[in-house]
Amino acid sequence: MSEEMRYLTFALGKGRLANQTLELLEEIGITCEEIKDKSSRKLIFVNEELKLKFFLAKGPDVPTYVEYGAADIGVVGKDTLLEEGRRAYEVLDLGFGKCKMCVCGPESARELLQHHEMIRVASKYPKIAKDYFYNKKHQTVDIIKLNGSVELGPIVGLSDVIVDIVETGSTLKANGLQVLEEICPLSARMIVNQVSMRMESERIRKLISDIKERLA
Ligand code: PRP
Repeated sequence: MSEEMRYLTFALGKGRLANQTLELLEEIGITCEEIKDKSSRKLIFVNEELKLKFFLAKGPDVPTYVEYGAADIGVVGKDTLLEEGRRAYEVLDLGFGKCKMCVCGPESARELLQHHEMIRVASKYPKIAKDYFYNKKHQTVDIIKLNGSVELGPIVGLSDVIVDIVETGSTLKANGLQVLEEICPLSARMIVNQVSMRMESERIRKLISDIKERLA
């Protein structure tokens, strides 16, 4: 490694996606031992040999770090990319974290989606919800932003339907709700800062091709 080689920094969304990303990186020879210590409260980790840094951020902040160049590379769900609308190159679908963005609710709400009625939609993803109802369905709706446990919306009478992620469907089932419409498929994506892509193109291209080969 040359003296002047700079660090490439990865921003990973805390949680399951970060763990799966680290497993994938390990398979292509990129390891970071200290990040595996789950008891640690440390947020940033370094691999001196490969000149790599990793930090763990809240998912929705990952595209922000990448847009501003505080991270060269990020791994985050497509849902977050759509919602945050940040500037970055989306270079790879990593194939894990597969799920769907859906409109969900009780069966009785299905007809509310047929006649352009003014309904209430609760979601952690107000932008995705708005885009779907306004631009795709041409239905004017009242969007209510929630921060989690969105399935409560129709149950407690806050909203008619929700726009949320469905993976196994077990949360819906346990709460008597159904998928009423599918909006789009989701999975983990790798994103790259636009300047980094030019300045560090050799290292980043190699990384992308190693991952592609591994995924194939
Ligand atoms: C997500 C999502 C659903 C659930 C879907 O919530 O918002 O509630 O997972 O998964 P399933 O179809 O396999 O049941 P998460 O666990 O991230 O927590 P949150 O409700 O606090 O957002």
